Amino acid sequence: MRIRFLLVLGLGGGLGCDATNVPPEPTPPSLDTQLRASLGGWGVVPIGPMPAQNPAQVALGRALFFDRILSGNRDVSCGTCHDVAAALADGRSLALGTGATGSGAGRVLGQGRQFTPRGTPSLLNSGIGFDQVFWDARLSGRGGAFTHDPAVALPVGLPNILAAQAHLPVLDRREMRGNPGDLDVFGHPNELAGFGQGQSAEVWNAVMSRLLAIQEYVAMFSAAFPGTSAPRFDQAARALAAFQMEAFTRTGSPFDRYLDRDDNALTAQQKRGGLLFFGTARCATCHNGPFLGGTSFANVGAPQVGPGTGAQAPLDLGLGALQTGEFQRFAFRVAPLRNVELTAPYFHSGAYPTLEAVVTHYNDVPLALSTYDPSQLAPDVRNQYHGEPATVAAVLATLDGRLRQPLGLTPAQVGDLVAFLRGLTDPTARNLRSLAPAQVPSGLPVR
Ligand code: HEC
Ligand code: HEC
Repeated sequence: MRIRFLLVLGLGGGLGCDATNVPPEPTPPSLDTQLRASLGGWGVVPIGPMPAQNPAQVALGRALFFDRILSGNRDVSCGTCHDVAAALADGRSLALGTGATGSGAGRVLGQGRQFTPRGTPSLLNSGIGFDQVFWDARLSGRGGAFTHDPAVALPVGLPNILAAQAHLPVLDRREMRGNPGDLDVFGHPNELAGFGQGQSAEVWNAVMSRLLAIQEYVAMFSAAFPGTSAPRFDQAARALAAFQMEAFTRTGSPFDRYLDRDDNALTAQQKRGGLLFFGTARCATCHNGPFLGGTSFANVGAPQVGPGTGAQAPLDLGLGALQTGEFQRFAFRVAPLRNVELTAPYFHSGAYPTLEAVVTHYNDVPLALSTYDPSQLAPDVRNQYHGEPATVAAVLATLDGRLRQPLGLTPAQVGDLVAFLRGLTDPTARNLRSLAPAQVPSGLPVR
């Protein structure tokens, strides 16, 4: 009301032909009209509620998620990397798995171990309905039919992509399984590590033998899956999925309230940032749909950091390591952006510590990549940066066409875009510590 009133006064002054009069400020209502119009074409709709999950499965999944017994050496749980104190990521550029000590950004690589090739993505909203997960989307599909590395025979009939995904970390030697000959934290042989390539089912069964030796898990499996006499790993995976969907879905951001037609949910600066995002800064040409990403791929010229993966290691070609097309080289899944404020550092390689740095990267990608400063990386990964001119040239050679020309954003516009990105945070995602139980059935430490 007050703003409208001032506007009328402003116009009145103008009509009085006083040349010294300041022209009226653009008004918030017209900003909303513009923003709502520019949103319209990008399929950005409010996200509906998550279907209710079976409480007994959620309880089992919660215990499993935080229990280190799932790892060969009994030293890593899902929650070690997907840390409740770091928005279900770990605050690191590259994840550290079994053998490492400490938590979060202070975690230290174990003797003789290697960094995993990529950063830990946050699990906030990962159960929301994506058809593909992982930075390179190497697991895809929905409702029972999933495509993944053919060497791993996933069980058929899994209900959702998270249940499929939950089969994989326990197989990964760097993340959870460990190497042949490893001893666990008690000095006992690591029986999960002894299985070879292609013996996925044996690993899953061996994890189940561990779990079913604990009475509390036996009871939890029979409550979660009544009538099953011999619980299977795919049920553990379904429970992990149920827990993640129930506990990690956070879609109550100011932006979501704005989509629900609350004009006051975003500040004027966030609205200006939104106009850039869906307009001249071209972000929405990739970050679109209900999740502002997650459905397509692009090479955005992210700096290469880490041991790499596939035949081109130490480089990480992303989708280009799985498929041979020229445009897939260095392409990664377009990151969904809700709650992104909470999950620094950014990009698959954790190359940038702040949202300002990411937006500055987009402002002139060829310049940003060729002048990338590795001192913004944590000291332990700094020497893992691959900034040789040939690597930079190789990444830029297949850079997405939309990013070849500088955007020409002013510092104020960079700030507006960052403010918009901060408007994607659900306030309840800021503190997730209560999701971690005080103890887990194995008795292993939770944190
Ligand atoms: C050593 C750290 C580590 C552990 C332990 C770990 N993860 Fe992850 N997780 C990662 C990394 C790194 C990725 C990304 C890998 C990639 O994209 O190549 C990932 C990806 C995921 C994804 C896909 C998310 C997305 O948006 O693409 C899910 C879901 C997930 N993990 C769940 C789990 C579950 C469930 C467990 C336990 C069974 C677990 N993780 C254990 C580090 C870890
Ligand atoms: C050509 C497609 C494309 C455009 C245009 C684009 N992005 Fe991205 N964005 C991606 C991809 C792909 C990734 C993941 C890249 C990676 O990890 O290597 C990403 C990642 C991000 C991330 C980091 C997310 C995370 O979890 O690490 C942010 C923030 C982001 N984009 C914001 C923006 C903004 C703001 C704009 C507009 C200025 C923009 N993007 C334009 C494709 C795009």
